[in-house]
Amino acid sequence: MASPTQCLCLLFVLGIWASQGSSRSVPEVSMSDRFEQWLSSYSRVYQDAKEKEKRFQIFKENVEYIKSHNADSSKKYKLGVNEFTDLTNEEFKAMRNGYKMRSSNNISVSKTSSFRYENVTAVPSTMDWRKKGAVTGIKDQGQCGCCWAFSAVAAMEGITKLKTGKLISLSEQELVDCDVNGEDQGCNGGLMDNAFEFIISNKGLTTETKYPYEGVDGSCNKKESTKHAAKITGYEDVPSNSESALLKAVANQPISVAIDAGGADFQHYKSGVFTGECTTYLDHGVTAVGYGQDGDGTKYWLVKNSWGSSWGENGYIRMERDIAAKEGICGIAMEASYPTA
Ligand SMILES: *[C@@H]1O[C@H](CO)[C@@H](O)[C@H](O)[C@H]1NC(C)=O
Ligand SMILES: *[C@@H]1O[C@H](CO)[C@@H](O)[C@H](O)[C@H]1NC(C)=O
Repeated sequence: MASPTQCLCLLFVLGIWASQGSSRSVPEVSMSDRFEQWLSSYSRVYQDAKEKEKRFQIFKENVEYIKSHNADSSKKYKLGVNEFTDLTNEEFKAMRNGYKMRSSNNISVSKTSSFRYENVTAVPSTMDWRKKGAVTGIKDQGQCGCCWAFSAVAAMEGITKLKTGKLISLSEQELVDCDVNGEDQGCNGGLMDNAFEFIISNKGLTTETKYPYEGVDGSCNKKESTKHAAKITGYEDVPSNSESALLKAVANQPISVAIDAGGADFQHYKSGVFTGECTTYLDHGVTAVGYGQDGDGTKYWLVKNSWGSSWGENGYIRMERDIAAKEGICGIAMEASYPTA
């Protein structure tokens, strides 16, 4: 039985379908109707009519952009309307990302310089850690730039499952609230390696249930932060700018990766193998949870994002793999790392 929300979404999809085929006789759903449907499906309310009109204009421009992209058959990926369609790209970047590049950081207390997968010779041709039960459901960072916490936690959830057999959803909020004495700055950004440092010195992390996500900076709940549900013993960086090193790593566990996710195509990504536009200015932390090859032979990385499941392929993106540039697509091979346990 479809819930009311699902019905709305279905209507909405039909609306797009109807408006895309210009030769069809189905009447086009007007942009303002579409906007109203969108508002109710995402329960969006604005403070006043002026704000609503401004958001409608942005929504309209984004829908036009999405339509023209999708009409270009040379593109391997599709864009779509999602939770972020009423935001300009600048607004989106400001509230959703939050990765600080390593160059602006100084960390090395617990990191080992070795790469434990360097001598791996055989890797499976495809990998999907979700199928091995090592990936928790898609989470949503909301309007807080703490992607770094979600990325680090997803990698830790993965290694915990591989070492203990248990998949436990762990607390990002604990990192946001408690990892504040180093360079990580909660909703204002951070770095996965710093998060691993904190987790090691904190002797673990508690569960999502005990220390739930709030999406705002708060004070550290010391009582919950000393109840550890999982721990890590160290962390290592994947050698930079080598997709083959990254492949060896992802074949063995989910890996934290940094990417440029600031482009409009990333904001509106819906499906298919993402091939850019993007730069190598890393601004977002996500988690590589597998890899594979598309029907037409395009190789991809399977990446878990933290923008809810309305974005992308149910919260995931497939990003082109083995490209000519050594940094990988959107810089994915530049600053990858993983916890050890
Ligand atoms: C990092 O540490 C080195 C050596 O201690 C120092 O020279 C450099 O300025 C530091 N960089 C930052 C960004 O703090
Ligand atoms: C990889 O092999 C080399 C040569 O045998 C060895 O020196 C190195 O320690 C190995 N690396 C790892 C991580 O096991």
